[in-house]
Amino acid sequence: MNPLLHRAFDAGEFRREGHKLIDLLADYLNDSMAAAPMPVLPPSEPEAMAAFWKNELKKEGFNLQEFYKTIIDQSIHIHHPRYMGHQVVPPSPVAALTELIEALLNNGMAVYEMGPASSAIERAVTDWLARQIGMPETAEGILTSGGSAGNLTGLLAARQAMCSYNVWKEGHLDGAPLALMVSEEAHYSVARAAHIMGWGEKGVVKIPVNSRMQVDTSRLGETLAKARADGLNVIALAGNACSTSTGTYDPLDIMADFAEENGLWFHIDGAHGGAAAMTDKYSHLTRGIERADSVVIDFHKMMLTPALTTAVLFKNGKHASETFAQKAEYLLGSGISKPWYDSAGRALECTKKMMGVKVFALIKLFGEQVFRDYITTTYDLGQEFAELITGTAGFELAVPPDGNIVCFRFVPENFTGDLNELTAAIRRKILEEAGFYIVQTQVSSDTYLRVSLMNPLTTAGELKLLLETVRSTANRIINR
Ligand SMILES: Cc1ncc(COP(=O)(O)O)c(C=O)c1O
Repeated sequence: MNPLLHRAFDAGEFRREGHKLIDLLADYLNDSMAAAPMPVLPPSEPEAMAAFWKNELKKEGFNLQEFYKTIIDQSIHIHHPRYMGHQVVPPSPVAALTELIEALLNNGMAVYEMGPASSAIERAVTDWLARQIGMPETAEGILTSGGSAGNLTGLLAARQAMCSYNVWKEGHLDGAPLALMVSEEAHYSVARAAHIMGWGEKGVVKIPVNSRMQVDTSRLGETLAKARADGLNVIALAGNACSTSTGTYDPLDIMADFAEENGLWFHIDGAHGGAAAMTDKYSHLTRGIERADSVVIDFHKMMLTPALTTAVLFKNGKHASETFAQKAEYLLGSGISKPWYDSAGRALECTKKMMGVKVFALIKLFGEQVFRDYITTTYDLGQEFAELITGTAGFELAVPPDGNIVCFRFVPENFTGDLNELTAAIRRKILEEAGFYIVQTQVSSDTYLRVSLMNPLTTAGELKLLLETVRSTANRIINR
């Protein structure tokens, strides 16, 4: 073989470098999980970072292990207990390890022959998840690359099922334009899906929210009536389980009733919090999820796997096989459904990762309880933090949290300046000093600090320290 290619496929080098990499990562995990003094997000500036890597690419010589170390040093440390930023889970290390077999075998799915075990495993884990959240025996699902792709897939299925003509084949015909109803607080990927489907701005009918940023169910009827009076053909209703910004759950059961009464497809974006349905303590938040026509759940948010691993579950399994059915118009009777084992017929992707393998490994190694424990622990932490905030002078919550997403701010005594500017300045300073990673959000027109407590190792002590850090940072900014 060509010597370079020989080296590129050298199993010996793979073994040697692999052992070293696992050692490096295990040491890194120990340090970051023990909250070693390290910047949670090492401060950097995008242009300088780009220049650094362009230069590295040009340089002579390369050391793989040094490269790995540099990547670690320049990355955000999700396993650090003071990482409290966006909704990305610190993956269970064993799930990351299992990704290695997915990467190396690289069975590209698409058709059964290109992933016999992984196709069947995908079937097993999606069936498993559907049952775990209480969906009926008819439910089936697929795995796809992220919640955004998941929402698009669910809403494409809605269009396929609810449009009275063969929209897949004929495109959108004249007549009432299609639309969906969704909370003002929905993740942007829901509206994006409508835009991708060519429905435009008017195709996304926003439902007002109440003071907890949940769909105001008393406004559902008037919102639908107005949309219809405006000439729209509303075919779907989408609910949040939970919303991204404040983490509050829409009243799904009431929305399911409304969808049923009005002949709408009911889609639930449970990318973050759908899996709470598995828990004893927090399943009340998702009541009604089992009645949805389609549900999206990200394993890489609240189910311990590396990104991206998303389930799209359909109450009626036939929708799983007809979403992308170019000729299958079950409404029109031809009914050519795609077999479950050829994933390209059912998913957005052609080639796709063997995503279910790591999920299967987690279920079998630790049992279902590991997901319940993870969700319950982090949601409990959210409740604990909320109590701490309300009990600490000068701090206030945006809304009482349902789970592990908490939005809050510090209001200094007698402060007469711009509170939104102060809140944003506090976050900037905290990021510069890199002791914590937190984010910010707008709730109504106010700026709040926002944490997603994704790390089960985060303690009450760290949360207390965060409040002290916010207070002292604010005082330094004000007295500057
Ligand atoms: C509620 C919700 N839906 C969808 C998404 C998008 O998911 P992904 O980042 O996996 O595409 C997010 C991401 O934060 C989310 O919070």
